[in-house]
Amino acid sequence: MASLTKLSFFFFFFVIAHAFVLLSPLVQSSDKDEDSLLQGINSYRTSLNLPALVKNGNAGCLADEIADDMEDQPCSSPTNGANILATSQTPLANLPKHLGKCKIDANSASDGVILPVCVPKLVPTLVLTNYTHQPQFAKYLNDTKFTGVGLGSEDDWMVVVLASNTPTGSLANAASSLVSAVDEEDDLFQGLNSFRKSANLPEFKKNDNAACLADELADELEDQPCSSAHYIIEPGNLPRFPSFEKLVKKCHIDINTTTAAIIWPVCVPDLDEDLVLNNYTHSHSSKYLNDSKYSGVGIGSEDDWIVAVLTTDAESGSFSGGAATLGAIGMFQYMAAVLLGLFLKDNEESVREEKKRGD
Ligand SMILES: *[C@@H]1O[C@H](CO)[C@@H](O)[C@H](O)[C@H]1NC(C)=O
Ligand SMILES: *[C@@H]1O[C@H](CO)[C@@H](O)[C@H](O)[C@H]1NC(C)=O
Ligand SMILES: *[C@@H]1O[C@H](CO)[C@@H](O)[C@H](O)[C@H]1NC(C)=O
Ligand SMILES: *[C@@H]1O[C@H](CO)[C@@H](O)[C@H](O)[C@H]1NC(C)=O
Ligand SMILES: *[C@@H]1O[C@H](CO)[C@@H](O)[C@H](O)[C@H]1NC(C)=O
Repeated sequence: MASLTKLSFFFFFFVIAHAFVLLSPLVQSSDKDEDSLLQGINSYRTSLNLPALVKNGNAGCLADEIADDMEDQPCSSPTNGANILATSQTPLANLPKHLGKCKIDANSASDGVILPVCVPKLVPTLVLTNYTHQPQFAKYLNDTKFTGVGLGSEDDWMVVVLASNTPTGSLANAASSLVSAVDEEDDLFQGLNSFRKSANLPEFKKNDNAACLADELADELEDQPCSSAHYIIEPGNLPRFPSFEKLVKKCHIDINTTTAAIIWPVCVPDLDEDLVLNNYTHSHSSKYLNDSKYSGVGIGSEDDWIVAVLTTDAESGSFSGGAATLGAIGMFQYMAAVLLGLFLKDNEESVREEKKRGD
């Protein structure tokens, strides 16, 4: 019995990636495109005696998500230059998902406006004149009703999301979804810190970049059943997971300033608080929690998945020069192990289904 428990216990500790992640703020060039556009739009507002638009975090999150969706579409797409209301009749199929991810209450979105523009290389002057000289955009940008703004860009696409000062367009937080997800993450954060205290170690500090990465990875894992993850990751030469680099960039993680990090996903039905914490504190990987080298943590969750990213103290400078380069390679390989395993499984399944249909 004991050995049986132990066996299943070990097999539940499937996806653990020991990785080197580089966590530090970095000004991305896309941020510069967005900042210069916002300045231009606000000069335009000022010239019309309108108050400047204020950055709205939820609008920014939504703009980012939509820009991610647009990225691979050509500029000839009908979405280019469209003014889209964030209602249920939206042509953006993924909008409900994006609202959920950005924790926006759908009732507070219907008067929000989404303005996507595609300009090769996002030439700043062309992007700005596209917004200020096209009547279908100007009529929103020159409207006093809109007070908040978020910008997102990917490749040739810029997305501006406007939030109004009315309840139906304010892009406000969805109370319920926000509370439940944050609760589970907070519970784990507190649980991990109790564990640290009992081991006479300093408590983990929250790390925003790590939390962003944890969130993004939880999104990737969201639709996978817990049962799909029955394997243990070992170091090895595994192929890369291409969009991982994109996630790293999105979270403003810089490849050049290094901190060793652990990426540690756990799947528990309904994220039962005690089971989640036990999965972290009672596994063969708990040694990472017990290591004073790790001082920061970011936690993200979606559905049955929760992901903790442990970071070291960036100022310790323990990873520099050659080690940093090695570390970066390590990161991609290990992450590949986690996600590639899952995607491979999916592909096999769809191939099998194709075959069945063909028969
Ligand atoms: C909008 O951008 C396109 C490039 O996609 C450019 O050819 C066009 O001149 C711009 N329109 C305005 C009004 O600036
Ligand atoms: C706002 O833009 C629309 C469309 O270009 C225009 O008809 C309207 O007169 C503008 N309003 C102001 C206050 O500039
Ligand atoms: C990171 O390192 C690469 C290669 O050494 C360099 O080209 C790049 O500019 C660096 N990036 C930052 C943000 O320092
Ligand atoms: C870890 O989570 C699984 C559910 O996914 C649960 O069955 C198992 O008991 C948990 N392990 C521990 C040590 O709590
Ligand atoms: C944590 O470290 C302490 C001291 O090194 C050790 O006594 C303890 O067993 C460790 N606990 C775990 C869960 O690894």
